This record gives sequence, C-alpha cells and structure tokens, in this order.
Amino acid sequence: MKNTVATLLAQKGQTKISMVTAYDYPTALIADSCGINTILVGDSLGMVVLGYDDTLSVTMDDMIHHCRAVARGAKNALIVCDMPYMSYHVSVEETVRNAGRLIQEGHAHAVKLEGGVEFVPEIRALHRASIPVVGHVGLTPQSINAFGGFKVQGKTREAAQKILDDARALQEAGAIALVLEGVPAALGAKITAALRIPTIGIGAGPACDGQVLVAHDLLGITEKSPKFVRRFADLRTSMQEAFAAFESAVKDGTFPASEHCYQVGSDDIFADIH
Ligand code: KIV
Repeated sequence: MKNTVATLLAQKGQTKISMVTAYDYPTALIADSCGINTILVGDSLGMVVLGYDDTLSVTMDDMIHHCRAVARGAKNALIVCDMPYMSYHVSVEETVRNAGRLIQEGHAHAVKLEGGVEFVPEIRALHRASIPVVGHVGLTPQSINAFGGFKVQGKTREAAQKILDDARALQEAGAIALVLEGVPAALGAKITAALRIPTIGIGAGPACDGQVLVAHDLLGITEKSPKFVRRFADLRTSMQEAFAAFESAVKDGTFPASEHCYQVGSDDIFADIH
C-alpha cells in the first residue's frame, strides 16, 4: 500500500503508524519491503552515520544526498526529511527555499522541523507552498546546548503545559503530524488525545499514534542506546563476527575457496603468457 499524507492522517485512532530512520538505499529498500509506513531521513544521520557528537553539524547538502538515496529505495513509505539546524532559523523565506530543495532535489514527501509556537510563521508558509510539515516537540536534539544535554522534557506541570501548547499551535499552523520525543508517557497520552493529527512517539510512551526509532538503535548497531529503545536485533555482534571471520579467512588462506574463483577449461592456456 502506498503511504501518503492522507493515509497517515487516516491512521489516527485506527492503526498505529510505524516510522524508522534510514539514510541509504539498502536500508530504505528493506524497511519499505517490510511495510514500514514512514521513513524518516533524520538528522540523527550526523550521529549514527557521520560520527558527530550531535546533530548540529549536519548540512542541507548532507540531507539532500542521503534523502535521494532513500527515495530510490522506498517505493511505498512516506518519506519525511529533517530540516537540519540553521536551515529554518534565519527567515521564513530561507525556510521555504530549503524545504523546497528537500522536496525537489531530495525527493522527500514531507519535511520535519524541531520547535514550538515560535515556528508557526514558518509552518504556515510551508503549508502555503504545499509542503507537508511534521513538527517535533519535547526533547529536540538541535537544542542540546540550550537543554544542557539529551534530557527528558516536560517533567514539571509548567513544562508539560508548554509542550502541549506548542503541539496545539503546530497543529493549527498546518502540521500534518508531530514527533514527540523524550517526554513522560502520561504527557504523550495527553497530547495524543488533545490533537486531531497523529503523534509519533520516541520515548513518549505507548499511547502515541505511532512509534519511531533510529534504525541503527533498533537493529542493535549502535554501541549504546537510550532507555526507550528496544534492540530488535544484534547486528553489531553479527557484523563484528563477520568482519573477524573474514579477517582470519584472508590471513589463513581459506578465502577465497575454489567456489569463489573464475575458471576456464584449462589453465594451460596461461602457461606461456609473459
Ligand atoms: O533525527 C532523527 O532521527 C529524529 C528522530 C529521533 C525522531 O528526529
């Protein structure tokens, strides 16, 4: 089934939405073939693929490059591409231009940006330009320096009220869905019940309309993962075992074996070449 903005909206209250991150063609192809509804080309790219400590160094060109690869692999999933840090902070005009590049050059179907009521003008302008926007509230990793680390948000009554107010403001500005990250499960439930648009949680409890995980966390490739992650596989160990086995097979000469070699009828034909 082809996933679109309309099918995503229709899933609210009916069937849970699955979203995973992907940054390359093979991961997108495999996730898509498993019926994942939505693929997020997240700026977590910076941390899990490019080796940065946070997401702040990721550029528009990085996002476009990886989004194009994902778009070649995903045939049915709705592709959402993150707007990187500083691509939507300077002006409404620059925001629309940058989001337009993610759609035209990256082949994303929607863009995601982090923040609350302060980004209502940008979301309205994107909506006018027919660019679907997913909001992202709670723990917003691009604000790591302001937060002083990756910390659970909305733990006090006032902080929780602010996140709920932000969520409502984004919905009214035209956001098609919201990612809720790193908030208490009870707040995730409250926000989900208060909105007409779907919420997609990551560390926001089971009541959200959908769940998203970073692919490298759920596949067990990252060394450590946050409390809210379930590692559905242990590919880190599988990869270590495979690389180590290759290393020793090369050293002890057991690879390549005869079945990995090209043969001709008789090797005699090579006897007199010099
Ligand atoms: O960049 C990302 O992967 C994200 C998810 C954590 C939601 O924004």
